[in-house]
Amino acid sequence: MRLGTALLTACLALGLSAQEAFLVKPYLQLGDAPVPAARERLDLLWHTADRDEAWTVEVRLGKRWVPQAPVTQRRLAAPPLPPHRICRATLRDLPPGAQVPYRVKRDGAVVFEAEARTRKAGAHRLVLLGDAGDGSANQMAVAKAFAAEQPDMVFMVGDLVYGRGRASEYRPNFFAVYHGASELMAKVPFLGLPGNHDAPFPGFEDASAYYAYWSLPLNGPALKPGEPGAAPVKAGLHDAIVAAAGPAFPRMASYSFDWGPVHWTVLDSNPYVDWDSPALKAWLEADLKAARGAAWRIVAVHHPLFQSSRTHLDDQWLRPLSPLFEKHGVALVFAGHVHNYQRTAPLSFVPTKIGPRGKAVEGTFTVDETFDGRTRTRPRGIIHIVTGAGGADLYDRWQTDVRTSWQPWTRAFIADQHSFTVLDVEAKKLRLRQLDTQGRELDAITLTK
Ligand SMILES: [Fe+2]
Repeated sequence: MRLGTALLTACLALGLSAQEAFLVKPYLQLGDAPVPAARERLDLLWHTADRDEAWTVEVRLGKRWVPQAPVTQRRLAAPPLPPHRICRATLRDLPPGAQVPYRVKRDGAVVFEAEARTRKAGAHRLVLLGDAGDGSANQMAVAKAFAAEQPDMVFMVGDLVYGRGRASEYRPNFFAVYHGASELMAKVPFLGLPGNHDAPFPGFEDASAYYAYWSLPLNGPALKPGEPGAAPVKAGLHDAIVAAAGPAFPRMASYSFDWGPVHWTVLDSNPYVDWDSPALKAWLEADLKAARGAAWRIVAVHHPLFQSSRTHLDDQWLRPLSPLFEKHGVALVFAGHVHNYQRTAPLSFVPTKIGPRGKAVEGTFTVDETFDGRTRTRPRGIIHIVTGAGGADLYDRWQTDVRTSWQPWTRAFIADQHSFTVLDVEAKKLRLRQLDTQGRELDAITLTK
């Protein structure tokens, strides 16, 4: 009994001091680790008040708690939030595919403990969703449902935080939800890309917090601030975000990484990026070419190439990339932007008329009519998935039951409920399921080699 009381007191003390220690509790990120290694690494970030404190992080390897390299801090002073600090530690020498305990200490006392799930070499599960961070009950329901699927990682296809991806919006609309009840962000890394709502915005100093709050591979095109293709920040307005982002701005907008048998190519698809420009296209071609050895190649963007919703129907500026993706054997392209779920048949596309941004890109389609994802599972062409039903208000619900409103190559269109994608990856098989907030299956396909 006495031991029980002591334990309870210790737990309460840890809980209380943890609450007081963090503005945002520790969350895992892939960091600048695009390629798996025999000893894996993960970044751990957390936010604190703007004061000097002695932070240390330890990882338990075997029976030993191993101190990690010193914690680095960046200060973010962008109103309306008071200045705060973004602390970062890199957890090193982690065994792949393992649950690794770690703990965070402030002034020598443990204030946070969790177990990190590290990248797996083989079969694994991830969750994908987009257009989520609006702080709504729907977003929370989706968050709860995907945490129950116990993914190895979560990938968010943009529009991470509404209304404008601001630091001040991240706490209620992102961290409170995904770190809230399940503490999933402390257990598995979240990866993502900037949607149009995560781009710099003229009115707000704290917009584009993506670059300061996330830590992802820095192997994308080597863009400098102000160059064509870089997120357009305004000097004097976005200085604080750029300073807090360090080398992540503007480079972290696009990147690639390997996870098990998949090579992921992640592209900033905002209208300020011209993927047809020689420098950017060269990076993209080289990235896809170098990934030839991967069993699967998957592309993630915010703006879909092919989709049927009336809303954003003409946001087709990525379509000219389809032949390049096809040439390099991309199996799936995931997008958001459109707030519903859609799946195409396997497609090939040759553009014939490329107009200005926001106008339709016309071309010739070749559709694989035999693939059904059940008995015929080897697609000829790329399957395009829109998974933008992660929390924000849904678009074009009425089209769900009006098949004549779908493009001829659309095979699934679910706009009457919120949902997320679960992808189970194996070397010779991808299993894709779209689940609702109760975990019920709305759509499912299997792809095989
Ligand atoms: Fe969007």
